[in-house]
Amino acid sequence: MPDSKLSSSIAIVGAGDVGATIAYSLVMNPVAGDILIVDPKEEVRDAQIQDLSDATFHGNTSTQVRAGTHKEAGQCDIIVFTAGAKQKQGESRADLIGRNKSILESAISDMQPFAEKTILLLVANPVDVITYFAQKYSNLPKSQVIGSGTFLDSARLRGVLAAKAEVSASSIDAYVLGEHGESQFVAWSAASIGGVPLEQTLLPNTKLDKDAIAEDTKNKATSIIENKGATNYGIGAVAASICKSILSDQRNIRPVSHYQEDLGVCLSIPAVIGRQGLVRTIEMRFNEEEQGKLKKSAEALKEIINA
Ligand code: LAC
Repeated sequence: MPDSKLSSSIAIVGAGDVGATIAYSLVMNPVAGDILIVDPKEEVRDAQIQDLSDATFHGNTSTQVRAGTHKEAGQCDIIVFTAGAKQKQGESRADLIGRNKSILESAISDMQPFAEKTILLLVANPVDVITYFAQKYSNLPKSQVIGSGTFLDSARLRGVLAAKAEVSASSIDAYVLGEHGESQFVAWSAASIGGVPLEQTLLPNTKLDKDAIAEDTKNKATSIIENKGATNYGIGAVAASICKSILSDQRNIRPVSHYQEDLGVCLSIPAVIGRQGLVRTIEMRFNEEEQGKLKKSAEALKEIINA
């Protein structure tokens, strides 16, 4: 049975691998009636649309995928921004800022005026800095501008911990926070397995090497990029899941990038996500070491902002 007609619309800006994979996740797990793909490279855009449409014809979705303009994107319920250069081998996410910031500025100026309740979800890297500038350029309320942040790194961390503990990843609560990049850190003091603080859990067969786990989690994208040129499936699933949290007003708690008044930057701290975008930040009691790492992450992001 097709899903009952969904009325919301999501624009995906950027028809590269990441944009197309987010669209594919939204077709396979429908939350919106219309998906608009926006990209000035019309041939690639239309080929992605044709290919994605083929995935809608097998009967369990009423989602339509079509081409859109930046102007139309500004009127959608969610705008997922993936446009810009991607990391080449040896490049960091921060290296992309010069190129991606100007692409963002011109795209946002073409989208204006925005629909009042639109949510801008930034995915392009360096995502925290891109989120910061998207707030500045769009003038949307800060709660309506969020970045995918360390949600993906947190999923990666849960995967590693799940394998070590021999439990499902969904039984693990553990966050990577701060920058989606070099200065990110694991909030070990808040990590738990089945609700039991990690510190108090006796894992089978293993002692956790926390530093090695944090390092492997941080470097996972680099090793994927080395071997296949890009990451797309992880971020595709994560971005689609944020769209679902928003449109269904699910109030899930997710580590997404958002503006931190006291730090003056956007970075990831767990937050409640709903139809209004960011509903509220979850106040966490970090230990001293984590507080230091959070501050360092904010300083690193300021440097990229001011570069
Ligand atoms: C990654 C990209 C999305 O971490 O930054 O896979």
